[in-house]
Amino acid sequence: MAFYHKCGEVPAKKHTVFHQPDKTLYKEELFSSQGFSGIYSTLYHLHPPPKVKQLKEVSLRQTELWEEAPLAYIHFFTDDQKTEGNPLLNRNLLLSNEHIAISTSSPTENSDDFYRNTLAHELTFIHRGQGVCLSEFGMMPVLEGDYLIVPKGVTYQLHFSDLRDVKLLIVESSTPFEIPMKFRNEFGQLLEHAPYSERDFILPQLPDPMREKDDFILNLKRGNRLFQYNLEHHPFDVIGWDGYLYPFTFNIKNYTPIVGMLHQPPPVHMVFSTPHFVVCNFVPRLYDFHPEAIPAPYYHSNIDSDEVLYYVSGNFMSRKGVREGSITLHPMGIPHGPQPGKIEESIGKTKTDEYAVMIDTFTPLSLTRNVQKTMDSEYYRSWL
Ligand SMILES: [Fe+2]
Repeated sequence: MAFYHKCGEVPAKKHTVFHQPDKTLYKEELFSSQGFSGIYSTLYHLHPPPKVKQLKEVSLRQTELWEEAPLAYIHFFTDDQKTEGNPLLNRNLLLSNEHIAISTSSPTENSDDFYRNTLAHELTFIHRGQGVCLSEFGMMPVLEGDYLIVPKGVTYQLHFSDLRDVKLLIVESSTPFEIPMKFRNEFGQLLEHAPYSERDFILPQLPDPMREKDDFILNLKRGNRLFQYNLEHHPFDVIGWDGYLYPFTFNIKNYTPIVGMLHQPPPVHMVFSTPHFVVCNFVPRLYDFHPEAIPAPYYHSNIDSDEVLYYVSGNFMSRKGVREGSITLHPMGIPHGPQPGKIEESIGKTKTDEYAVMIDTFTPLSLTRNVQKTMDSEYYRSWL
């Protein structure tokens, strides 16, 4: 994040004596990106963060790739394949390449264990459900429509208040989720023409540090391997922190879409960018106001992007047969666009109530068996 944030107590100067009430020192930790050159935060713990009692490797559910997947327009129903247990470890991996892994999860359990992804930044879109995200940076509510962004290396838990119908879209990224540069000035501040402002981002609030000593389990994900550490102290033992690197949420309902006289291309709907893919969102908006405007998109060959669309709610103007929780994948190198009748149907319409999340990757995606299992096998023929 481009914004400075401070929570709890920190000493007046970095790297100076900072005593606990019992006269022992707080343990200062620098949590930094790109060595010492990127954004960072400084945290003050009750206990040394590397204190580990025991560690072991445990098995992580592996998903088979669908090696022989066709080059085709793909549509599948993610709601048709549920997961069990904790959302941080039980995910249906759908699409991936070396920079990104896209999964869904329908958790049935709030685990007391802690989780840290050591190789990937995580974006969790809360399609259905609400609860709280707890981390060493503090707590944040998570609500329906939130993007929860958790940087690589953050220890966290995700607890839902009602587990009967929770649905998450999870994106793991090798590089950070950034606010696109075109929406920021040279100092990082959001510009007036950006579709959101600093006030729309929810940052963690720090409760009192956890002082319990017990046996705490921390699951560390490293690619497709999982390690389990036993800690004797609660990992959320922070008295204060400050800096620029921390988890946050942004709700899709706070995105104020940019509209135009004629059809606006997807980059105006961008919400996060990375060097390897972008995340855009389609939200309720007024359509183009030229008297002869065609609101539906034109056919397009985006030769450098695999386009993934996750359908959240509302009536999607350019697609037939999709429903909540559907994903369509339109691979690079073949043109795509509205199905027959959808262009004509859109003429004269003044607004849309759709919500969808789009991920455009600049490297082709591999599909897994989870896609094959829930696929609409007739989708590629739906332009006939
Ligand atoms: Fe497209």
